[in-house]
Amino acid sequence: MPRQLFVTTALPYANGNFHIGHIMEYIQADVWVRFQRMMGNTVHFVCADDCHGAPIMIAAEKAGKTPQQFVADIASGRKPYLDGFHISFDNWHSTDAPENHELARQIYRDLRDRSDGSLINHKSVEQFFDPEKNMFLPDRFIKGQCPKCGAADQYGDNCEECGAVYAPTDLVKPYSALSGATPVLKSAEHFFFKLSDPRCVSFLQDWVQSRNARGAARLQSEVLNKVKEWFSTRKNPDGSSSEGLADWDISRDAPYFGIEIPEAPGKYFYVWLDAPIGYLAALKNHFIKLAGDAALGAQHYDAFMADPATEQYHFIGKDIVTFHTLFWPATLHFSGRKTPDAIFVHGFLTVNAEKMSKSRGTGLDPLKYLSLGMNPEWLRYYLATKLSARNEDVEFSPEDFMARVNSDLVGKYINIAARAAGFIAKRFDGKLGEISDDGAALLGQLRAERASIEQLFEGREYAKALRDTMALADRVNEYVDANKPWELAKQAGQEARLHDVCSVCIEAFVVLTTYLKPVLPALATQVETFLGVAPLTFASASQALGAGHRIGNYQHLMQRVDIKQLEALFEAPALAESAPATVESKAPGGEAIAPTIGIEDFSKIDLRIARIVNCEAVAGSTKLLRLTLDVGEGMDAQGQPILRNVFSGIASAYRPEQLIGKLTVMVANLAERKMKFGVSEGMVLAASHADEKATPGIYVLEPWVGAQPGMRVR
Ligand code: MSP
Ligand code: ZN
Repeated sequence: MPRQLFVTTALPYANGNFHIGHIMEYIQADVWVRFQRMMGNTVHFVCADDCHGAPIMIAAEKAGKTPQQFVADIASGRKPYLDGFHISFDNWHSTDAPENHELARQIYRDLRDRSDGSLINHKSVEQFFDPEKNMFLPDRFIKGQCPKCGAADQYGDNCEECGAVYAPTDLVKPYSALSGATPVLKSAEHFFFKLSDPRCVSFLQDWVQSRNARGAARLQSEVLNKVKEWFSTRKNPDGSSSEGLADWDISRDAPYFGIEIPEAPGKYFYVWLDAPIGYLAALKNHFIKLAGDAALGAQHYDAFMADPATEQYHFIGKDIVTFHTLFWPATLHFSGRKTPDAIFVHGFLTVNAEKMSKSRGTGLDPLKYLSLGMNPEWLRYYLATKLSARNEDVEFSPEDFMARVNSDLVGKYINIAARAAGFIAKRFDGKLGEISDDGAALLGQLRAERASIEQLFEGREYAKALRDTMALADRVNEYVDANKPWELAKQAGQEARLHDVCSVCIEAFVVLTTYLKPVLPALATQVETFLGVAPLTFASASQALGAGHRIGNYQHLMQRVDIKQLEALFEAPALAESAPATVESKAPGGEAIAPTIGIEDFSKIDLRIARIVNCEAVAGSTKLLRLTLDVGEGMDAQGQPILRNVFSGIASAYRPEQLIGKLTVMVANLAERKMKFGVSEGMVLAASHADEKATPGIYVLEPWVGAQPGMRVR
């Protein structure tokens, strides 16, 4: 029976771009999801931006934007990272979306209106208030002198100089980091989730130790040990400890960017109440998109979540364990919902042994990595070789990265295909031959590992799965070294043996590629094309291609890491002061930025979204393609759509059928130009290097999903 899985990663705060720590989490989850899909299971893999809270509200104000605009701008930058590293989310949503507002309010009502007694109560809370900004201040926005050592400008929760932990009210000469005003203590009514209620305590104590329907632990043992401590003692802000679980403060007063609490005007849910509910909202929205209808999608979502066969898993980092192992299961259970089957906690990624700050994310810039032309699968592979099921920190070391990729991935694995495929193509018409006993025995050993590799992926023991796979690659290489196909090729009468040995290599390569595919999805797709096989699943590892199967021509599958790329990756970014000079010499396309223009200059250019209705080669030209474009200009007098004819010098980069149906961007008010082949009524936009001969490549622009022909680009 195929399993049905609902998988998430933590929802990143919508106040900055991804850093490499986020990407590591996505890679860990994506490998698992791809593995599950290869096992024939159904997976819904979703994530969203975590939009709410005071810090984002304040950041938006600083940026001169509404919070909605601010988080939308962050969201619009997500795709290049996710596509770039082959992260296969089925949906990316937002905690500020209607589904989340609705679900959060419903869940709150369910907790409040329980027939066995409400789990929500109210208490008066005294807090610092900024009299100039007219708002309560989160701890991070109160500064002052450390009460222990007297250091100036310390945050409201702990001192960076002496390490003392205290409450904001302990600060000497406190001031608001927003306005500089002296904050005043003011009380307000807050809403609490009664986690100290005996119902909650006994449920949680049981839940954290319980097993899911598959009989697996919900928490890793090291996580469980930590969580158990919270039931007995907890740390207070002043450094003292108290007994047992405390009630959880789930409300904040206006102004706050968040979800308004029902029947409580001016009160908002604390961001951590609605953030995990965003998991459900992202799934619900995914079902709505799949169904193409809100009501139907909502029905599918309800049915899916009510189905006892549904399994729910969250991948998170070690810093947000409390929220996911106590607050979240309690929120779900006491609102009458299904709780997670497991929470998978990973450690933190450090780069060059430096701790990465949450907000700054120093070290390794993921987009820079991609823009240097570094292969995203090198990073997937390298991180996977470091990841286990344990909550342990992971270190990125450039030397180690280069060694793993070059000697294991390229040197051991890719090498197998490289050594055999040429002979099959040149000497045997691309066809595999009969395999004799020694080869069959080797393949048998490789295939016998399948169940064990599957179990390692299932258990998130990627490092071990890859080590075992590379050990198998070693055996294949030993076989190659023992049989020396390059010598067989020179000896008379060894044709059959050469064919045999090379066929064994290709069959072995299929098995190894299957085991690596969760980690290297794009490479696996290339291999599938080259070998002429259907998409590999785990079952494929047990099936031989067989004698007579025809493979394609081998094209080099993966480059080695070049030390220069790593040097460039870790080269400090140019300082703002020296920026102009750097732009001149290092501009990515090899040309300096053009002189500054005003917005009035730019707005003279009318850029429009265009649909490529048709595209064909131009007889007599190797450079041009003829495009027929719809820029939303409506119908002519005869009721025919008004279309543009545009010639574009992109024939070296695209085949016509690749472009038909796609959207692109065109200059719609460019004067017509008479060409040898006809009149060109505009121009489509494409990127290229300054010197196309030295660095070829033409990239036609394509807007995000949702843009429509005729929309103006500004
Ligand atoms: N918004 C919350 C999560 C809400 S989940 C309902 C949050 N966001 S975050 O952007 O700060 O972090 C998102 C995820 O990235 C978390 O799982 C966090 O642990 C993870 N990481 C942040 N820095 C990391 C590393 N240096 N290494 C690995 N993961 C890291 O927390
Ligand atoms: Zn101090």
